[in-house]
Amino acid sequence: MEFVSIAPDVKLGENVKIHNFVNLYGCEIGDNTRIGVFVEIQKNAKVGKYCKISSHTFICEGVTIEDNVFIGHSVVFINDTYPRATNGNGMLQTEKDWKVGPILVKNGASIGSNCTILCNVTIGENAIVGAGSVVTRDVPPNAIVAGNPARIFRTITLFSQAEKEELQYALHEFLKKPG
Ligand SMILES: CC(C)(COP(=O)(O)OP(=O)(O)OC[C@H]1O[C@@H](n2cnc3c(N)ncnc32)[C@H](O)[C@@H]1OP(=O)(O)O)[C@@H](O)C(=O)NCCC(=O)NCCS
Repeated sequence: MEFVSIAPDVKLGENVKIHNFVNLYGCEIGDNTRIGVFVEIQKNAKVGKYCKISSHTFICEGVTIEDNVFIGHSVVFINDTYPRATNGNGMLQTEKDWKVGPILVKNGASIGSNCTILCNVTIGENAIVGAGSVVTRDVPPNAIVAGNPARIFRTITLFSQAEKEELQYALHEFLKKPG
């Protein structure tokens, strides 16, 4: 690892793979997660286990990413809806001047490259966010969303093991029929 900055307050799980030019402070990273080059993860952000965080992504304060989540390249999370440089006194804003808006990315979700995720949203389990989307509202579990603003364009069909076996059996029987 070269040019990596990991502050002493970072909670790193087991077997976390960190590439070059990564900047981590005050955050928590779960076991077996991989973090690509030029990623920054701020304080009070949490990344779960077995996640892949691709290069050039920015994960800000207030973001919680559960386990098995894929984050594409150059994904930006937003935690302030109405940002300002200065406060009423003309001084640069400090933490006292604004409130962090949270984001939750649930287990197994994937976020395509170059997305912007606005605050106060939840991206549901196993959902997929298309490349280049701007997410402004909650994404339901298993939905595929895309666009600006991101809209649902289909839902992923998930079969149970019993359903998969039933379908395989039906296909097998169908293929056995002559003609
Ligand atoms: C959203 C996504 C999952 C859809 O895949 P798909 O279901 O195979 O979709 P299709 O390619 O059949 O496209 C269906 C329609 O959606 C449109 N579409 C696909 N992806 C889109 C996106 N990201 N944003 C806007 N529209 C999109 C297509 O243009 C097409 O429109 P049309 O019917 O008018 O031609 C995929 O396109 C995507 O963006 N995946 C993320 C890839 C990524 O970022 N990977 C990480 C790094 S490698």
